[in-house]
Amino acid sequence: MRLKDRVAIVTGGGISIGRAYSLGLAREGAKVVIADIDAEGAAKTAAEIKAAGGEAIAVKTDVANKASVDAMAKATVDAYGRIDVLVNNAALFAKLPLHTLDETDVEEWDRVMAVNLRGPFLCVKAVVPEMRKRKWGRIINISSSSIICGNAKRIHYVTSKMGIIGFTRSLAAAVGDDNICVNSIMPGATMDDSTIEAYGKEWYQGPLTRPIKRIQVPEDLVGTVLFLSSDDSSFITGQAICVDGGEFKY
Ligand SMILES: NC(=O)c1ccc[n+]([C@@H]2O[C@H](COP(=O)([O-])OP(=O)(O)OC[C@H]3O[C@@H](n4cnc5c(N)ncnc54)[C@H](O)[C@@H]3O)[C@@H](O)[C@H]2O)c1
Repeated sequence: MRLKDRVAIVTGGGISIGRAYSLGLAREGAKVVIADIDAEGAAKTAAEIKAAGGEAIAVKTDVANKASVDAMAKATVDAYGRIDVLVNNAALFAKLPLHTLDETDVEEWDRVMAVNLRGPFLCVKAVVPEMRKRKWGRIINISSSSIICGNAKRIHYVTSKMGIIGFTRSLAAAVGDDNICVNSIMPGATMDDSTIEAYGKEWYQGPLTRPIKRIQVPEDLVGTVLFLSSDDSSFITGQAICVDGGEFKY
């Protein structure tokens, strides 16, 4: 119970990898706010946590929209009185079409940037004042190992995830005096409900070149989120940790 009495927000925490983070944080004793545009997924995961004896609420949130994010932060404080941990996980990813440069129009580019970069920025702006009150905070920004090699059919996505690294480093410098640690995680290709739906299970069956030769699953990422959410990581900030079975080094 490393996170007993802590309050954690997980954006996009209702389904897929975000759901695994929500369940993991609850298992460590945190009260979890599942902030997801998918209200049904968020409600289901909150119910799962409560059924297991934990505490959670679902708050329908569009991270790209300031009013929606501010309302989510307020709902968190109204319900639990504080905010300690923010996991910026929500993103446009698996549902994005695999578009070439020529097929990618400016509206699609702007939408990806709005959710994947403006979203984390708005969430940070909404929660940092609460963290400052107690001089304690943990912000975990989810990037991607795809930033290392790039992807010709996800130019906007990979650009946004590289932006997350710059955001993490700059923000760490900005809030260090408030004892708020800011780090990012770069997951490798992870088999979850969304990626199975988008690409099929075959996507993961190719040659596994990583040192740990098995398919990556959401649970592989949870331990790092819990570590970065806890006192165990109190002198680590501004870092990016690649969690991908050793495939890439960063
Ligand atoms: N699955 C992978 O292989 C992989 C690899 C590297 C990084 N990632 C990153 O991990 C995170 C989770 O990935 P995933 O595979 O679970 O993705 P996903 O598409 O299954 O889930 C994304 C979540 O974000 C939510 N969401 C989308 N737009 C939103 C918005 N505007 N406001 C609030 N919530 C919104 C969705 O409802 C969903 O719950 C993402 O940041 C993704 O970029 C995933």
